[in-house]
Amino acid sequence: MQFVSRIWKTLAGDRRLMFCSVACGLGFTALGIIPPLLIREMLFWLRDPAAAGSFWLLGGAVGVVYLLRGITRYLYGLSSHIAAYRALHRLSLSVYRHLQKMSPAYLNRRHSGNLVARTMGDVAAIEDYIAHGIPESLLAIVIPVTMSVVLLVINWQLALVALAPLPVIATLVYVIARRTRNMWRGVRSRFAEVSGRIQDHLGGLAVIQSFRAEAAMARRVEAESLEYRDRIIHANCWSLVPSGVIETTSGAGLVLIIWSGGWITTDSTAAAGLHVDFADLVVFLMYLGQIVLPFLRLANLTDNLQKASASAERVFELLDTPAEIVDRPGAAVPECRKWTISFENVKFRYTDDLPVLEDLSFRVEEGETVALVGATGAGKSTACHLLTRFYEPAAGVVRLGGFDVSELPLSWLRDQVALVSQDVFLLAGTIRENLLLGREGVSDAQLEEAVRTSGADEFLESLPDGLETVVGERGIRLSGGQKQRIALARALVKDAPILVLDEATSAVDGATESRIKEAVRRATAGRTVLVVAHRLSTITAADRIVVIDQGQVVESGSYEELVAADGPFARLCRIPEDVVWYGE
Ligand SMILES: Nc1ncnc2c1ncn2[C@@H]1O[C@H](COP(=O)(O)OP(=O)(O)OP(=O)(O)O)[C@@H](O)[C@H]1O
Ligand SMILES: [Mg+2]
Repeated sequence: MQFVSRIWKTLAGDRRLMFCSVACGLGFTALGIIPPLLIREMLFWLRDPAAAGSFWLLGGAVGVVYLLRGITRYLYGLSSHIAAYRALHRLSLSVYRHLQKMSPAYLNRRHSGNLVARTMGDVAAIEDYIAHGIPESLLAIVIPVTMSVVLLVINWQLALVALAPLPVIATLVYVIARRTRNMWRGVRSRFAEVSGRIQDHLGGLAVIQSFRAEAAMARRVEAESLEYRDRIIHANCWSLVPSGVIETTSGAGLVLIIWSGGWITTDSTAAAGLHVDFADLVVFLMYLGQIVLPFLRLANLTDNLQKASASAERVFELLDTPAEIVDRPGAAVPECRKWTISFENVKFRYTDDLPVLEDLSFRVEEGETVALVGATGAGKSTACHLLTRFYEPAAGVVRLGGFDVSELPLSWLRDQVALVSQDVFLLAGTIRENLLLGREGVSDAQLEEAVRTSGADEFLESLPDGLETVVGERGIRLSGGQKQRIALARALVKDAPILVLDEATSAVDGATESRIKEAVRRATAGRTVLVVAHRLSTITAADRIVVIDQGQVVESGSYEELVAADGPFARLCRIPEDVVWYGE
């Protein structure tokens, strides 16, 4: 039940609307009590025409009541939905903002499709709770209570008999709701799995098709979908019970009225002092038809409400998961700024059983370009990610300008480092949007300069829309090499003092190679650069080369020195399949 107060908190700002909705709901209910009473009045008048009032007025009153009922019903639904969708908007945004703070390690541990289903699906389910759950639950209490009071006032003996099944219905709805709660939680997590899997497969459809793995992948989706199907059917088996039982028990009220009414009327000695008026009986019958309706609605809503509360728990659990990588207390922007990078005895592993960096130590001086070289999987990209603090070393320190990166404010640290990742990620949008990435105050001249320096101008000129060209989801319309140059241009637009270039491993032709070499030379001028180099041209452009193997630096020096030393670097050069470049 804790989530109810959390949901209530998310309604801050729209509580007035919620109150308005509940008030209209109550008005609607109260108005529902009036028509049977007016009809009772009419029956009295029919029996005793001498005491009758105006039937016109009576009919008019019923008309007005129904008009007001229509209006209050509309306003009740409208205000609760407005409040719910406003809360939905706030909640999805705060989930998204929270996810933005999470470290890559957290996101790696979770299926991204699962997270999307969680963010949007679960939050949407909470809308149901706010729009229907809160007001309907209230009405399910208020309507039966008020109607019971009116019936008790009219004829308390008959009311006690007629209302006897109500507590049974209420208990049943409650018990079943509790029972199905875990079932619905399981259903939703299966759903997240299936949709995550499908999303994952669609993302890699080209690979699946080229490996002719469609059937195998479909079998996996089928297995998960079957599990989802069985669970949701099982949950429904239980969730649909209350509506059936309510229908039956509401009939029990009628049966009891007929029996007791008959008994009172026929056995006058036994039922001495008891009396059932015909007009009262009509009110009873009309109320009994209405009194179970809120239970029925609540029972029908139960599965949605269970879904919503399971969803709410998951959303709040997500919101309560603290970000792992945050500013340390006392993190301050350093006064004296030097743009050096140093790794000191850094140890790191993603999982406990697989060491990646063992004892990594090297330095990059201010203005220097250092090429990080090593076999695939040696941990080069990992080292880059430690500098930008996507992960934290298990031991040792990574320093920027002499300061431990974990002691620096995260936003400042990331402002100083422009990172070109190995896997280029382009957002769906125009190339300009991708270059700016939300950055403001960048002039067109700066943008053009970055595009020229990165060498992206060549192919941009051939595109009819130039910078305004829309790249599809993940930039599928650009070639690998083109994407890399856009990524380099993006880093240059950032104009940070430190450039970290994680070169893509894909091979390029000789002409592109020399253009990239030229672009890198231009881009590195005046900056401290750490480049993970896979190509000879990039390696020779560096001031110094650091070779890593088994998570340690095994060699460092200029290209000529390392070739002359004929050590690990020279050996690496001779294994073309391990690295992408092809010797001299
Ligand atoms: N997110 C991750 N979770 C778990 N293990 C990872 C993760 N990223 C990388 N690894 C593992 O860490 C090791 C180093 O990976 P890294 O990406 O740093 O290699 P690399 O030197 O950049 O290789 P390449 O030259 O192929 O780009 C690899 O064995 C890899 O399997
Ligand atoms: Mg890498």
